[in-house]
Amino acid sequence: MTATVRVALGPRSYDVRVGQGLLQRAGDEIAPLLARPRVAVLTDTTVAEAHLPAFRAACAARGIAVSALALPPGEATKGWPEFARAVEWLLSERIERRDVVVALGGGVIGDLAGFAAAVLRRGVRFVQCPTSLLAQVDSSVGGKTGINAPQGKNLIGAFHQPSLVLADISALDTLPPRQVRAGYGEVVKYGLLGDAAFFEWLERHGPAMVDGDADLRAEAVRRSVQMKADIVARDETEAGERALLNLGHTFCHALEAATGYSDRLLHGEGVAVGCALAFELSARLGLCAQEEPSRVRAHLRAMGMVTDLADIPGDLPDADALLALMAQDKKVVDGRLRFVLARGIGAAFVAEDVPPEAVRAVLRDALAGR
Ligand SMILES: NC(=O)c1ccc[n+]([C@@H]2O[C@H](COP(=O)([O-])OP(=O)(O)OC[C@H]3O[C@@H](n4cnc5c(N)ncnc54)[C@H](O)[C@@H]3O)[C@@H](O)[C@H]2O)c1
Ligand SMILES: [Zn+2]
Repeated sequence: MTATVRVALGPRSYDVRVGQGLLQRAGDEIAPLLARPRVAVLTDTTVAEAHLPAFRAACAARGIAVSALALPPGEATKGWPEFARAVEWLLSERIERRDVVVALGGGVIGDLAGFAAAVLRRGVRFVQCPTSLLAQVDSSVGGKTGINAPQGKNLIGAFHQPSLVLADISALDTLPPRQVRAGYGEVVKYGLLGDAAFFEWLERHGPAMVDGDADLRAEAVRRSVQMKADIVARDETEAGERALLNLGHTFCHALEAATGYSDRLLHGEGVAVGCALAFELSARLGLCAQEEPSRVRAHLRAMGMVTDLADIPGDLPDADALLALMAQDKKVVDGRLRFVLARGIGAAFVAEDVPPEAVRAVLRDALAGR
């Protein structure tokens, strides 16, 4: 069974297809988009080994020629050097205005390939084939593309919507368990920010889902994508509501910076910890009952997720240093701390002017628990 979620953006609308075995049918799915029977694929070497043969075979069966460039796996790829290499490769492959670039991989490849497509010959179309849970539920949908700068993450980029997203649930079978759990950080975020019933569903089905149940995975991806699609359709460029998708991310970005964007803390793990802290802060500010952060943490624990600062290996800087890192986050407007807070599970909102003392107190207590 394949589900289709429409991202309704007028002339830039597109479908997100969610289901098992989609890469095996990629030729049929992509063919209607093509002006001539060829595509250029950007991927990473890990994903290429596991999934490029199936993609190639599916295209070959439809007479579509495939050329592919496999970049090194990992966040370090998302910078100028590999980006330049990718764009120059696409030019050398003579990819033209009417051609289609395919991103086959996790969020790193999706962000880089999408940005390459955005600037190549002033913009060519691209198809996202997300292979990590994080990319399927978050980064492949919504059109944010880009790379990291030495000055910070995701500082160089463009809005460029894909023409199609193929989220093949079967591709997750080769994803390492830690990466599955990290992706789950973004899944649980959707329930927490706007859908209490989805959070309850995750409390019931989350463990079997991360353990590999394909039907539950498909349902979790579909519901996550539907929520993101609805929000993006209402606020494509993050003038307002789209900021809710940053629940947990201000804490997360400070923790990622503090751990050097290393394997100590994966992005989705930081999102989970960040969501727990955002609920703690909300309770502390009297916005929600203390039961709410407790319930969030209990669920993350039950999922075997990184939940508390104590779960992050190695030293962390003190509360003041973490607060300083938050102040550098790009969500800060005019030096005021802007947070996504919650009045309860499923009821997030953007709070301007959050008192720094309250944030410092939450961090201090969380660090003391280590
Ligand atoms: N554009 C957006 O809206 C958006 C949203 C969230 C995150 N992001 C970005 O996404 C990136 C993180 O994405 P990610 O977590 O997918 O990281 P990633 O692309 O680095 O993938 C994680 C690891 O899993 C491997 N992998 C991916 N799919 C696999 C599979 N099916 N089988 C085996 N291994 C597989 C990759 O090779 C990599 O080693 C970050 O750069 C983040 O900034 C972007
Ligand atoms: Zn995120």
